Amino acid sequence: MTAQAERPTPSLDRHARTSPMLVPRRNYTDPGLFEEERVKIFRRTWQLICHTSELPEAGSYRTARIAGEPVAVWRGIDGVVRGFHNACTHRGVEVLLGAKGTCPGSVKCMYHAWTFSDKGDLTGVPFPRAYGEGLDKSEYGLTPVKVAEFAGLVFAAIDPAVENFEDYLGEAARYLREFMDGTEVIGRARWDYPGNWKLWTDNFRDNYHPQFLHRMIADGRGGMQPGRNYELASGHSMLTFPAYGGFNIEKYAAGLSAELGENLTLTVEDSASRGHTAQEQEARLAAWERDVRHGNTIFAVFPNFDLQYDADGSSIFLEVATPLGLDSTVVELIIMGKVGESAAERKRRLETGADSQGSWGKITADDLEASVRAQSGLQGTSLATSHMGRGLKPGRVGDKFDEYSLRCFHKLWNSYIDEEPIVLEKGFVHE
Ligand code: FES
Ligand SMILES: [Fe+2]
Repeated sequence: MTAQAERPTPSLDRHARTSPMLVPRRNYTDPGLFEEERVKIFRRTWQLICHTSELPEAGSYRTARIAGEPVAVWRGIDGVVRGFHNACTHRGVEVLLGAKGTCPGSVKCMYHAWTFSDKGDLTGVPFPRAYGEGLDKSEYGLTPVKVAEFAGLVFAAIDPAVENFEDYLGEAARYLREFMDGTEVIGRARWDYPGNWKLWTDNFRDNYHPQFLHRMIADGRGGMQPGRNYELASGHSMLTFPAYGGFNIEKYAAGLSAELGENLTLTVEDSASRGHTAQEQEARLAAWERDVRHGNTIFAVFPNFDLQYDADGSSIFLEVATPLGLDSTVVELIIMGKVGESAAERKRRLETGADSQGSWGKITADDLEASVRAQSGLQGTSLATSHMGRGLKPGRVGDKFDEYSLRCFHKLWNSYIDEEPIVLEKGFVHE
């Protein structure tokens, strides 16, 4: 009997960041990198806080955490939504309490009753004479955070020098505007899980896994369908694919052929094996606009905001994955409805959300299991990197089953951590 050949012990540094397809596993497990992310990513990017429909009247507010810091967005009696660090300038107590509430005009801190106006000014201090000349109220207003309202969504950013919001969205702006048109929030769900926030955002961008991890759903829908995968300047990404429900690949190809005047064939197998001709690739690109409007889209805005838009808006979910710690994340699902729709339609949307993407939904249960097991597996030192090279090729468009959107994310993540500008691929010219 021959002795089993000894396998070489992989070096921890093997495959350190040398390729866009290899992502260091320490990105998910290193406490130092987590602190760096807080400073270089979460303080410097825009975070979704809520929808304007959740701030319906003067005094409405919502609280959140950005980069671990408590913040609040608060609608003034003048109707303007402002953002503040939600910490009393006396001794730090949160001034606006709970996840949401209504506090018109001003708020009195629960601890020593300092009072702040809805513009953030310190307007009242009990027994002020005890301070003598030592307290200039104008220096003790709530510290502002930047707020951007876009397409009905309210985003906030801690860094006063953060990029203008529409510039930050880049090519993603027009789609976000379109997806959010005529919508309002009809439900929310949130859950914590013991894993790094990037495992959740990786998962949202990954359409390689559903046919396996969500096998039950894939089978119920008669298999998976092909689609496209785009990088949107500057670094956000979008997956598009035809709507579920009676989906038939031959019918889709025939319809597309008629529309384009081309004899187009598409098969799931072709798509997965990347066996398209140049003509097919062109046709698929041309079909993109149609897919976006009438099919399904998974839309990812760096760093942690995702949107899923199904079949003409039949389901619209927003998700935000907020890190609480290196291996602790809170995921918030926001279920959108269309303004003016019937109660029955609302009920259907909420049930669909709860059944699929909610905290106990079929899809979430699968994704949570995989993410938690990934966090556990990544603790090992057997290999230094995770492989995200599926469908690696030049250009800004890929196959739906590729790990393309993940690479978009990690490329941008690297650019923030290294503090170097992102370099976009050529090959996809957006109109
Ligand atoms: S901590 Fe707010 S008034 Fe003292
Ligand atoms: Fe999934």
